[in-house]
Parts: sequence; C-alpha cells; structure tokens
Amino acid sequence: MEKAELVSKFNDIFGVNPEGTFFSPGRINLIGEHTDYNGGHVFPCAITLGTYGAAKKRADRKLRFYSANFKDKGIIETSLDDLVYKAEDNWTNYAKGMIKFLNEAGYSVNQGMDVYIEGNIPNASGLSSSSSLELLIGIICQELFQLKTERLDLVKLGQKTENDFIGVNSGIMDQFAIGMGQAGKALLLDTNTLEYTPVPLDLKDNVIVIMNTNKKRELADSKYNERRTECEKALAELQQELSINSLGELDEDTFDEYSYLIEDEARLKRARHAVSENQRTLRAERALEAGDLDKFGRLINASHVSLEHDYEVTGVELDTLAHTAWKQAGVLGARMTGAGFGGCGIAIVAKDCVDSFKENVGKAYIEKIGYAPSFYIAQVANGTCVLD
Ligand code: GLA
Repeated sequence: MEKAELVSKFNDIFGVNPEGTFFSPGRINLIGEHTDYNGGHVFPCAITLGTYGAAKKRADRKLRFYSANFKDKGIIETSLDDLVYKAEDNWTNYAKGMIKFLNEAGYSVNQGMDVYIEGNIPNASGLSSSSSLELLIGIICQELFQLKTERLDLVKLGQKTENDFIGVNSGIMDQFAIGMGQAGKALLLDTNTLEYTPVPLDLKDNVIVIMNTNKKRELADSKYNERRTECEKALAELQQELSINSLGELDEDTFDEYSYLIEDEARLKRARHAVSENQRTLRAERALEAGDLDKFGRLINASHVSLEHDYEVTGVELDTLAHTAWKQAGVLGARMTGAGFGGCGIAIVAKDCVDSFKENVGKAYIEKIGYAPSFYIAQVANGTCVLD
C-alpha cells in the first residue's frame, strides 16, 4: 500500500491526517524450528506480506485503535492508564502490551494516540501477524514520541509482550526476523548469544512458495507451551551429568551418549529434535552458502520429518502439503514453517514448475482434507520501517 492511501484511510476513520505511516513485515522460517527457546539457531527472513499502520498523538491519554482486518470491532478504545490484558480487547492487547512494556523500560509514551492498522498476512496463518503488529506499535511509539530505542530493544519488548502479556512462551525468532530483516537475505541467528549473520538468499531459478493449510491454529498456544515445558524437563534430566545451559549446546553424538538420562519417550523425542534441528540448521546454512541447493532442500525436508515424528507439531494438513510437495517436479524441499499445528508450510520450487506445483498439491490436499489450501510467492523484505 502507498503512503497516500494509508493517510486517506486513517483520515476516513479519525477525521484528521496521521503524523506518520509505517510498515512491519511478516516472516517465514527457512529452517531451525522450535530451536529458539532451546538456545539453538534459526534461519528466518522477513517477507513483504505484513502490517501497515498510521498514527497520530492525541492531547489526552486515550488510545484508540482501528483495524481494517476487524472492521466489525470498530474503534477499540482504551487508555494509557488501563494497560491490562482483557480478552474483549482482542487484537489491541498486543498493542497495549507493547506500550506498557515500553513505559516500564523507561521510554515515555505519555500521550494517547489514534492508530489505524491494516494487514495482508492471512489470519492465523503462522506467518507471525502478532509479532508484525508488536514491532509496528514499537516503531509507531518510537517515531511519534522520539524514543531513543534501539531496534533490538523493540524486538525484546515484542517477545516480552508475547510472553508476559499474551501468555505464549515463545522465543525471540519472530520478532527478531521482523525487526532486523533485510531484503534478499535470511538471518542466521544464534538465539543463545543473539549474534546473527545476514546470508544472501540466492535460490537461482527457484522461488519460495508459501503453502497455507487454511487450518485455524486451535489449541496451538497451549500445545506450544507444552512442548517448551517438555524440553525444559529433558534439559534438567541431562543436566544431572552434563554442564550445559541449553539443548542448543549439544551435538548429536553427545546427546546420544547421554540420552539414557531422559526417562520419558516423549521428552526424548522432543529433545532429540531440538538437538538435531539445531545442527541441521547450521548444515543447511553452509549448503546454501556453498550454492548446494539440492542439499539445502533435502535438509528442509529432514526438518519436516523431525518436526512430524519427533516434535509432533505438524498434523495431517501440514503433512499432506509437505509430503505431496516432495513428489512434485522442480521441488527442492518443503516443510512446515513457524509453530506448526496448522498454519503454513514453505516449498522451494523451480519458477517454471510453480503452476503445476500449485495445481497438483492443491488437488491432493482437497482430496485428503476436504478444502483448498492457498499459495503465495514469498518476497524477502526489509524489517519494520517508516513508510515514506
Ligand atoms: C513460533 C514462536 C517462535 C518459534 C516458532 C517455532 O513462531 O513465536 O518463537 O518458537 O514458533 O520455531
């Protein structure tokens, strides 16, 4: 969306022009899934699907939010003096959390605002519309109130909003990819140290196809928290003999040697995934840098296998997409992306095979699942920014 259109949409709702216009991307993760809260590596990138925002300060302490994606909710009004989670406040809880934690961190958001939001990330698709919104609110506050925030502060406060305001115990990957993203590059991030390397995503004659299961991610948050707890317990069992702080510190051989310490099969599988996926991510990044796209693709497939059988977060919808994709001409690799339990997958597909890919995978999915998936071509974008 162009700035002028956003300005006019803000004006339609609030009757004045905004002070600033902004954009915050969504994200996909190429590989390194469920490793970010296990001290491992992730390899995500920001995408051009995202969330637009326009905002203006108010003279009072009212916060008035309007989203074109939830028109039926109208303007949701709250105040700087009431920044508490309320289910009925719906999507604005992400905004309230972000403002609350900015203030608690010593940045002063001391006047109200009118905020217009419009996103084109498909709802509940697992492409991180929530982190996109958190970072968007972060940059709106930074620009309107001239806050001296570093980008990493906004990233961390976004994660804090998710953890402590919304109640999802997520890692830092989504906010990091969205806040720090670079066009044409994926970010190899060590979630233990937050050191990262932007890696050119040279896929030659291939594109990334996002495959949306169109399955609502029900119970996803509670299952997510359950996986995290399972990994924490497995880590505690390993720590009886090993002086490690996270599963990400282990290579596969060491894990294998000490796996007898884990007393439960589910925990063994969860931890095995956390360890193997971290190593796989490093191998995949090396394959990409070496231009070995076939290997990169196979490791993407292997990630799905591990998420399906060891981590058990895929489900029939994502499995149908990935397994069908593997059989198509011109496909280098395919897997689920994000938290799982529905949401989206990604496939790396030769440009001239994309049409047949969509047709064949779409048909097989409808036959098995009963409704159609959606497909989008991912364009790799910059992080959250002012829209000029
Ligand atoms: C969600 C979380 C991330 C990460 C992924 C799984 O997207 O927000 O922190 O854990 O799931 O890799």
